[in-house]
Amino acid sequence: MKIFEKKKDLDQALPKIREEGQKIGLIPTMGSIHKGHISLVKKSKKMNFYSIVSIFVNPTQFEDKKDFKDYPNNKDIDIKELKKINCDAIYFPSINEIYPKEIKSKKTIFDFRNILCDNFRAGHFDGVTTVVDSLFNIIKPDYAFFGEKDFQQLKIIIKLVEILNHKITIESCPSVRSENGMSYSSRYKNFSKEQKNIFNEIAVIINNYVKNLKEKIDSNTLE
Ligand code: PAF
Repeated sequence: MKIFEKKKDLDQALPKIREEGQKIGLIPTMGSIHKGHISLVKKSKKMNFYSIVSIFVNPTQFEDKKDFKDYPNNKDIDIKELKKINCDAIYFPSINEIYPKEIKSKKTIFDFRNILCDNFRAGHFDGVTTVVDSLFNIIKPDYAFFGEKDFQQLKIIIKLVEILNHKITIESCPSVRSENGMSYSSRYKNFSKEQKNIFNEIAVIINNYVKNLKEKIDSNTLE
């Protein structure tokens, strides 16, 4: 598995891979690789793509500096986990490569805004689209893989590709859930034992509620 830290090394390696007729699949992440990420890489590998995972904790998508500072960082474990599944490469960009001018986000997408998560995380999606656009410009993948766990993010990224005319197909991938019904998430690694227990109890309640609701909708018995 190749580890890239510089754009110039990617610029050298990727054209050769394309010349050999292989397509490039990008899996953008902020690291702390979990089963959800693994499923995205496996899907890209199954489609026979040269599969690159980018790992970059993006400062502009955090409103809270402490939240950014505390975001889990497990570089060595991530490398091991991705090696195990024969991922082709990891890209650990520096902040200067992602933000060559200034560390600032740009508002590009206005659709799917002012609802759901966007109402509670001011600026979050502008940070996400800015970093994803930067990664797309550096790697120029043929395909990029995103989990349905972050459904609003997924819709906004599909719009980004359309608006900025990126020649990239976005593969939306089903969430991978743990026993309690919740999707795997990197932040979970930061929870204490007590927080994990509380989270588990709430997760089971939410999961049962949603399942119940779905059954009623499917059987047309929702009052
Ligand atoms: O979903 C994530 O992990 C992040 O929002 C992404 C897409 C890697 C951008 O930083």
